[in-house]
Amino acid sequence: MKKILIVSLMLIFFKSINKAGIDLPGQFNIGPLPTAAPAPADNPVTGEKVALGRQLFFDPILSANNKISCASCHSPKKGFADGRDRSNGFSEGIKTKRNSPTVLNAAFNGIDLHGNLDPKDSPQFYDNRAHSLEQQCLEPLLNPDEMKGSAVSASVYMEQLEEKVTSIKAYRTLFYRAFSDSTASIANITKAIATYERTLITPNTPFDRYMRGDLNAMTEKQIRGMEAFISTGCNNCHSGPMFSDYKLHVLGVDEHPGLQRFDEGGGNYAFRTTTLRNLAYTAPYMHNGTASSLTEVMRFYERKRSKHTEVSNRDLAPEFRALKLNPFNRVRVNEIIAFLEALNDPKFDQSIPESVPSGLPIE
Ligand code: HEC
Ligand code: HEC
Repeated sequence: MKKILIVSLMLIFFKSINKAGIDLPGQFNIGPLPTAAPAPADNPVTGEKVALGRQLFFDPILSANNKISCASCHSPKKGFADGRDRSNGFSEGIKTKRNSPTVLNAAFNGIDLHGNLDPKDSPQFYDNRAHSLEQQCLEPLLNPDEMKGSAVSASVYMEQLEEKVTSIKAYRTLFYRAFSDSTASIANITKAIATYERTLITPNTPFDRYMRGDLNAMTEKQIRGMEAFISTGCNNCHSGPMFSDYKLHVLGVDEHPGLQRFDEGGGNYAFRTTTLRNLAYTAPYMHNGTASSLTEVMRFYERKRSKHTEVSNRDLAPEFRALKLNPFNRVRVNEIIAFLEALNDPKFDQSIPESVPSGLPIE
């Protein structure tokens, strides 16, 4: 009942906010973000946990060689991504298989148009293989190419990590404040980092403000771009407040030339629809960083053809093949890019701690 009411109110709202006289469709499947990210019942957000999680996120002590922190690949200076096609891994010469996605708004992964999101069912990664921020956090910690290295097994490393962090007095105090327990257990490390991530959100972009009723928040070109985005069919996959349906689709993106083995994504070369928020800070694009600019991404969509040797045009997602994008209509293409700019928010938390409890240098 409540949902039906919201949808019909939204319809009236959208019809009445058309300041530029642009013919917007009556019903959208894109919308603004809520202003706070939900947390699971067993890990409510507290200031103490955010403070601890922030220190841990920037502290290289979490890696086996004390050199790599979460921020090495998710830096506030690079929109919480790293600006590389594939990230630099545990040691010289090791690179991750995929491009580092932004952590901004990852706390909203899985949210639907009505703002519903179960934080224990919040898909993470390009193949959706983790189901919450808490669960996601364990993966880089235990990945031999990222923070664990290959000298010890995952179970041995978890013990070493708990001991290493607990041995630092400042951490014992911070853990006690956050969890009434001064031991740095793996469970509480991941809970604290997930809590910090729940504060890394950008729900006040020009698009969000426009959708909440501030008609001057988007330029006329951006409003036209929104119309083009919808009539082209981009929103058949890039839907909801995150501009993602959280499904895996086959687009036939070029393979990264540096990979030893092809990356099959979630199977059959399908990858999750990425968010379109804050793209201004997170180039290069696609799961392997093979598109260096938005113009390049648009050219890929205009061609509507597989660039991957193992993916035939028949295998491509039907929503991709159905896109109505005319490559000769540069005006429309540029309007879509202008709309994507309305999804950026430069005011995200760019602060970096001056020091971390381990005393190790910060990136
Ligand atoms: C060596 C680089 C590297 C390090 C270190 C690293 N990450 Fe990542 N991160 C990545 C890459 C690459 C992916 C995408 C991997 C994939 O999809 O398979 C990713 C994905 C993620 C995602 C999923 C985002 C989404 O929208 O799906 C989150 C959240 C995240 N990382 C948080 C963290 C946290 C927290 C840490 C520290 C505990 C961390 N990362 C350490 C490179 C790194
Ligand atoms: C079939 C579903 C689908 C349609 C339709 C679609 N996309 Fe995508 N989009 C995806 C998927 C899946 C990815 C990730 C592909 C990958 O990394 O291999 C993606 C990636 C992107 C990226 C890169 C983002 C990043 O951070 O790497 C941009 C930009 C983008 N799409 C914009 C658009 C625009 C604009 C349209 C309309 C012209 C559109 N998409 C239509 C599914 C779709």
